Amino acid sequence: MAILEYDAQGLEVTPLQDGTTFSHANKQARWNTLLESAKQSIFRAHETGELGFLTCFQDGLDEMEAFSTKLTSSQTLTHQLVLGIGGSSLGALAILATTGGDAGGLKTVFSENIDPVSFHRQLQSLPLETTLVVVISKSGTTIETMSKFWIVYNMLVENFGEEQAAKQVVAITDPEKGSLRKLALEKGFHTFGVPPEVGGRFSVLTPVGLLPLLLAGYDIRALVQGAQSVVTHIKESRIEDDLCAQAAADQIELLQQGNISQVVMMPYCDDVLPLADWFRQLWAESLGKRVNRKQENVFTGITPLKALGVIDQHSQVQLYAEGPMDKHVMFVEVEHFEQDYTIPMMEGFPEALKHLQGKSLTQLLHAELEGTRAALVSAARPTSLWRFASLAPQSVGAFILAWEMITALAGELLDINAYDQPGVELGKKIAHGLLGHEAHLELAQQMSTDAADSDTHVWSVK
Ligand code: PA5
Repeated sequence: MAILEYDAQGLEVTPLQDGTTFSHANKQARWNTLLESAKQSIFRAHETGELGFLTCFQDGLDEMEAFSTKLTSSQTLTHQLVLGIGGSSLGALAILATTGGDAGGLKTVFSENIDPVSFHRQLQSLPLETTLVVVISKSGTTIETMSKFWIVYNMLVENFGEEQAAKQVVAITDPEKGSLRKLALEKGFHTFGVPPEVGGRFSVLTPVGLLPLLLAGYDIRALVQGAQSVVTHIKESRIEDDLCAQAAADQIELLQQGNISQVVMMPYCDDVLPLADWFRQLWAESLGKRVNRKQENVFTGITPLKALGVIDQHSQVQLYAEGPMDKHVMFVEVEHFEQDYTIPMMEGFPEALKHLQGKSLTQLLHAELEGTRAALVSAARPTSLWRFASLAPQSVGAFILAWEMITALAGELLDINAYDQPGVELGKKIAHGLLGHEAHLELAQQMSTDAADSDTHVWSVK
């Protein structure tokens, strides 16, 4: 059985704008040349060193393992607090979640938000003297990550002194530049580099994701093996058999020909839901762009949403089946679960539910997924299915790499830069200005004046 499968049969139902029906075969004929050149340009960018996500996980495993062994043998550590946000956190968090959050190593707390109450709760749950602080910021200047880092670092210094504090911090950042790198050198923190050619949201298979996962006890070698199997598949497959190329073309065809501007990732497994969060960031920040590579306004993107089977059958599916024809529902199925329960053959079972007796919860999940998918197909809604053989690290690694490649290919097909995020820069500068950063004071002032002059109504509830 393949570790990861993509089933696009449910896409055939989509009526396109010209009245014809979406067809995998027609689509292939239209897209294959474009896909070939998209693939080549991604490979070329890897050869010239501009891009690194297809190869970044081949290096550094020995170094991380040696560090982990030395660390755990020289100090008594029980927990790690991972400070990061966006691409510096979501991937490792999602991968660890596929184990239920505990892979047998250090107990791991990911702290992303700056909500003071939840941060306080997280700190309360950690024994400071046996907690390793892993601070991850590629730029080293991310306001949320660095603010919380200074709070925790100060606690370590106050409680245990500078020398011990330095032993309890690992910094993952740019290999040469940035203020976190400078600080780490000054204070003597152990460091790992984020390859400059790997963008934040593509960086889970670098030390950004691999180190916290390794320390948490996750089998990163198997994860990387799964990722490598997809790279090999991409390299060796003809375009019509290339799972990533076909999935990318499906997405763009649905957008351009079918006006399907939203994609819902809907796993039927609680532990996979955080992977949908990782996907949402990758897809939204990479493809949501105002301009194309010719600097023409295109305002493109496909809005990624998440839903959880079966819970959201009782919440969202009504909208997906009968609401606007703008969604592609991408189911995620796990073939094999580690635990299962069987519905007992007891006396007094209601007649209407008797057919459930003897069935396992896994059987129920699979049937409910199939039923929902069939219902959406009959309502002419596009669906596809990603099937994990199990939540073994190989399957998870394959899924990660596949979506990184699909995103990169979709970026090529849309002719946009999938690796920048100009739309989030302005907000960051204004926030810095509002907090007193001299370089952005004027901008913040200007924005506040504009907001005050606008017609915005402020509702105040007393
Ligand atoms: O994809 C990206 O580049 C972003 O989501 C970043 O990962 C995120 O903003 C965190 O940045 P940094 O690692 O510099 O703290």
